[in-house]
Amino acid sequence: MKLLTIESTCDETAAAVVTDQLEVLSAVVASQDNLHRRFGGVVPEIASRAHLERMLPVIDETLKRAGVRLDEIDAVAVATTPGLAGSLLMGLAAAKALCVAIDRPLVAINHLHAHVYACRISSGVDVFPCVGLVVSGGHTSLYRCLDPLDFELLGGTTDDAAGEAFDKVASMLGLGFPGGPALQRTAAGGNPAAFAFPRSFLHDDRLQFSFSGLKTAVRYAIAPPGTPLPDPTTLDPKLVADVAASFQQAVVDILVAKSLAAVRTSGFGTLCVGGGVAANGPFRERITTECQAAGITLHIAPLKLCTDNAVMGAIAVERLRAGLVEDLDLDITPGLVRS
Ligand code: KG4
Ligand code: ZN
Repeated sequence: MKLLTIESTCDETAAAVVTDQLEVLSAVVASQDNLHRRFGGVVPEIASRAHLERMLPVIDETLKRAGVRLDEIDAVAVATTPGLAGSLLMGLAAAKALCVAIDRPLVAINHLHAHVYACRISSGVDVFPCVGLVVSGGHTSLYRCLDPLDFELLGGTTDDAAGEAFDKVASMLGLGFPGGPALQRTAAGGNPAAFAFPRSFLHDDRLQFSFSGLKTAVRYAIAPPGTPLPDPTTLDPKLVADVAASFQQAVVDILVAKSLAAVRTSGFGTLCVGGGVAANGPFRERITTECQAAGITLHIAPLKLCTDNAVMGAIAVERLRAGLVEDLDLDITPGLVRS
């Protein structure tokens, strides 16, 4: 059985052909980074227009690379929550049209659950039950995942997502967009102990995150309260590298501590990590070492399955198997969902 999966929750237009045995026959991602770079963040209106232009070429290319005709597809799956409304609508409209054209079932994907499922695909083993950490541009969430269809939200961020903080700090430091990879490169030349930035909720039992205080502390390290942020090109390169390294260290400390706490609370022995920030090198190293020390089995998505892609949409195989298909009046759910 072959599924066509579609991803358009934010600013990547992506499609993949996967089998019910979780083989990936093809995968295409069209990034919109170039369109959003000059604004320093994703502009929703631009994102949805770009999805409209790219969706059919991306799907055509995906089928071509898989060597599969459209009428050989057995089901079409699309991420319908959470994400930018206009972006989600583009993917859903395309998926519905294809389902009508080839008379096949429509399957809905929860984008955050799919980020965790990326670990199931890449590891090739049954990772459930596990704790799932999704750490991306829009979310920082911990889940208790009994099985691929049963995710319970343990906690999330009370303000910014970790990736959003990376992007905003990178922007203050003049490091470009998207900020995460650029900040990681700059941080490699800095001192992670140069600034004692706050680590919210670190010594607190709550499985919650907050990154806005950290972001403000970074802002004040660059320019004291009451003074405007300087043009980043005028900043001392040593200050930039030290702020980047200290910021990254604070985020890594928080993510690692909360993930381990969630695993302890869950009673499970496995942690699965996905989302764009999971591509961060120092984070990958630290979580690997600490999980080893604590006797936790760690699955972390490989780099190309960390940032948004349609391969992780293979979680739809699980829904299809359970008979969970959708009517064609299915709508998007842009906002945060309970699970
Ligand atoms: O999962 P993703 O592609 O999109 C969302 O669903 O949000 O995550 C994108 C986020 C961006 O904020 C980006 O800066 C961050 O992931 N990111 C990183 C790294 N690579 C991507 N953050 C830190 N270090 C990285 N190497
Ligand atoms: Zn994502």
